[in-house]
Amino acid sequence: MTSSSFNQSKASPANLPLRDIPGDYGLPFFGPIKDRYDYFYNQGEDEFFRTRIAKYKSTVFRTNMPPGPFISSNSKVVAVLDSKSFPILFDTSKVEKKDLLDGTYMPSTAFFGGYRVCAFLDPSEPTHHALKSFFLSFLASSHKKFIPYLRTSLSDLFLNLETEITDEKTADFNTNSDNMAFDFVFRLLTGVHPSETKLKSKGSGYTDTWLALQLAPLGTLGLKYLPNFIDDIIHTFPLPFFIAKPGYKKLYKAVYESATSLLDEAESSGIKRAEACHNLVFLAGFNAFGGMKVLFPSLIKWIGTAGESLHQRLAEEIRTVVKEEGDVTFSALERMPLMKSAVYEALRIQPPVPYQYASAKEDLVVESHDGAFEIKKGEIIFGFQPLATKDPEVFSNPEEFIADRFIGDGEKLLKYVYWSNGRETENPTADNKQCPAKDLVVLCSRIMLVEFFLRYDTFTVEIGKVALGASVKITSFTKAT
Ligand code: HEM
Repeated sequence: MTSSSFNQSKASPANLPLRDIPGDYGLPFFGPIKDRYDYFYNQGEDEFFRTRIAKYKSTVFRTNMPPGPFISSNSKVVAVLDSKSFPILFDTSKVEKKDLLDGTYMPSTAFFGGYRVCAFLDPSEPTHHALKSFFLSFLASSHKKFIPYLRTSLSDLFLNLETEITDEKTADFNTNSDNMAFDFVFRLLTGVHPSETKLKSKGSGYTDTWLALQLAPLGTLGLKYLPNFIDDIIHTFPLPFFIAKPGYKKLYKAVYESATSLLDEAESSGIKRAEACHNLVFLAGFNAFGGMKVLFPSLIKWIGTAGESLHQRLAEEIRTVVKEEGDVTFSALERMPLMKSAVYEALRIQPPVPYQYASAKEDLVVESHDGAFEIKKGEIIFGFQPLATKDPEVFSNPEEFIADRFIGDGEKLLKYVYWSNGRETENPTADNKQCPAKDLVVLCSRIMLVEFFLRYDTFTVEIGKVALGASVKITSFTKAT
C-alpha cells in the first residue's frame, strides 16, 4: 500500500532518492494477526524486524504492530529502524504523541483514576505543560536527596543479596532490585519509607500487577507448555482493571496521605489534587519503577557478563577517585570515565523502553542512510530502538558490549544514544517528550556501579529472560580486598 504526492524526481533535504515505503499490511484482520504471530511466536521481535529489513532492503518499511484485533483498531505503522530515521519520533513539531505511549492501543483510563496522565499527552496539550513543569521542578528541588537516598537503598539491596547467597547459594537480583527501586522512588516523592505506611512491603507487588495488566498486550506469558493460541488471548482482549483495583487504591492512598507538600505545590500551580496524585502514582509506578525494573537488571547483566578484567578496571577507577574526593559526590562521579561510559553502553545496547510511537502531524519526509520516504499526515510511525542504537553505520561492533566505547572521542557518539526518548546530548523540557528524569536515571546507574565496586572485587551472574527484559541471579560475590 503506497501512495505518493511526491514524484520520484523530487529530492529529500539530503538529496537522497525518494522511495516508496516498502512493505504491506496484508488483508484486513488476517494481516495484523499474521504479523502478530510472527512477532510473538514464529520469529520473535528481533528476527521479525531483521528479516523484513533484509527482504525490503530498507530500514524503513510498512508493517502491522501488535496487538491488533480486537485491542487496537488500527495496527498499521511505518517502522523506522536506523539511527538516522529514528529521531523523527522526537520532533514534536512534526509528530504527535497523543495516547501512543503503549503503541497502537491505549489501556483504559480506569488504570489511571480516569485521567489521561502526562505520558499519554502531547506537548500541544496545556495539561502536559503543567504536569511536566511540575515534575521537572520537583526533580530539580530533590537534587540533594538523590545520592544519600540511593546509597541507603543500595546498602539494603546488597545486604539482602548477600544474605540470600549465604542462605540459598544464589540471589535473585530482580526481586531485590525491584523492592529497592520502589522504596527509593516512594521515599523521594513522599519523604517516608513505604514500610512506614499501610503499604508495608507490598508496594512493588501491587505495582507489578497493575503494570502487567496494562502491558499484557505487548508481551507473552512465556510459558513453555502453553499453546500459542491460548497465550494470544492477552493480545486479543484487554485485561480488566478490577484485578489491580484494590492494590491501586492502596498505592493511591499511600501517596495521597504521604506526598502532602508535593500535592500542595501541584494545587498551587493549578493542577487538581486528585489529578496530580494519579499522575504521581503513574510517575512512581510506571515511569520510574517500570523503567528501573528493566534497567537495573540489564545493567548488572552486561557488567556481570563482561567479566573480571572489566570489574578490576572499574574497581580501581572508582576506589581511586572516591579515596581522592573523600566521598561519593557528584564531582567524584564526573571523574570516572570508564564507569560513565559503561553505563551509557548498557543504555545503548539494551534500551530499557524499546518501543516508541508517534503519528505524523503533516505529510513529511523521513530519511534513512540510503533513502528518503514520504509519510502521510495521520500515519503512525514506530521505532524499535535497539536496532537504531545498534546501527552498524554509527557503531562499530554494535552487538558487542564495549565498556569504554564512549570515552574520549567516543563521547561524540552520545548523540546516538536514545534511551530517554531523546538524544543523550539533549535535555527534557515541558515542550518535548523526553524523560524528565534523564539525569536521575543515569545517576542511579552510576551510583549502582560505584556502590557495587566499592564493596566487591568481582561477581558472577546467571542470566535468563523475564517478560520485560533480563532476569539476573547473582551466583557469587568476591568482597573488596
Ligand atoms: C530507568 C528508569 C527510566 C527509564 C528507562 C525511563 C524512560 C522513559 C522514556 C523512554 C520515556 C518516553 C516514553 C515515550 O513517550 O515513548 C519517559 C517518559 C517519562 N518519564 Fe521516564 N524513565 C525512567 C525513569 C523515570 C523516573 C525516575 C521518572 C520520574 C521521577 C520518570 C518520569 C517520566 C515522565 C513523567 C515521562 C513522560 C514525559 C512526557 O510526557 O513528556 N521516568 N521515560
